[in-house]
Amino acid sequence: MTNIEKLIQLKNEKNAVILSHYYTTGEVQSVADFVGDSLVLSEKAATTDADIILFAGVRFMAETAKILSPDKRVLLVDSNAGCSLADSCPAGQFKDFIAQYPDHTVISYVNTTSDVKALTDIVVTSSNAVEIVDSLPKDEKIIFGPDRNLGRFVAEKTGRNMIIWDGACHVHQQFSSEAIRILKKEHPEAKVLAHPECPDSVLKIADVIGSTAALLKFTKKDSSEKFIVSTESGILYQMQKESPSKTFFSVPSSDPCKSCNDCQYMKMNTIDKMVSALENMKEEIFLGEEIIIKAKKPIERMLTISKELGLL
Ligand code: 13P
Ligand code: SF4
Repeated sequence: MTNIEKLIQLKNEKNAVILSHYYTTGEVQSVADFVGDSLVLSEKAATTDADIILFAGVRFMAETAKILSPDKRVLLVDSNAGCSLADSCPAGQFKDFIAQYPDHTVISYVNTTSDVKALTDIVVTSSNAVEIVDSLPKDEKIIFGPDRNLGRFVAEKTGRNMIIWDGACHVHQQFSSEAIRILKKEHPEAKVLAHPECPDSVLKIADVIGSTAALLKFTKKDSSEKFIVSTESGILYQMQKESPSKTFFSVPSSDPCKSCNDCQYMKMNTIDKMVSALENMKEEIFLGEEIIIKAKKPIERMLTISKELGLL
């Protein structure tokens, strides 16, 4: 029996569902029941009737699943699969930061720890951040954290003057406009796609800016044949799968390291580790009851507003 067959057998025996983010390897995405962006995966976690959620993603995603489905057992494939963006916003420092602005609404990107979510009024993902901020009254005072690039993008799109936490994702921060221009010279007809976690210089030259799901959708419906993709390389598997005749170029990192457009945390997910996670019921996510109650409110608020706005 292959490891993939073993995984499917275990999944069926234990009534587990496999959720995977677009940034995992193609092999991992190919065995998942649902592959999606952070927003869709949160929704799947909230509505699944499986007993076990096996999360092929990173810790904040598995924690979000546990918060939304506390009665289910949630497993993270690799206990070291963290997120540099979530790490750039320690809860203690964030608490002191927001205490300086007592009359502000706290909006946090889903890429945060549960402790930060517990300090938050509304969680957002890159699929709904602009729309959710836009849905608030014009005079609402807003703190946005932790991603400074997404924060700037949302502030520009909505015309809001937000207080923004100075955090970033190490993968997206190092995409450069120079690397894109070099690729564009070779393929002038290619459309440039960028995730809003990229620096402003990249967003300025992008034809389309959006979440992983939004970029994927664009590549399917747009008539262009070539795309330069400025986000984590895992999404190319899904883009190629859904548009086999089109050509996708991953933007090389400005860093001398060869594969910095890979998120090393997302790439910790492997089939072997998924089998082992289900066999041994590890790494199981446990969160305190108080944190679950506090962190659930802003996530549910996001899901409710997203449904009202037709984004889910
Ligand atoms: P999406 O919400 O667009 O899937 O992005 C998640 C993420 O981790 C981006 O780095
Ligand atoms: Fe976190 Fe960046 Fe990896 Fe996304 S790509 S999970 S933001 S480290």
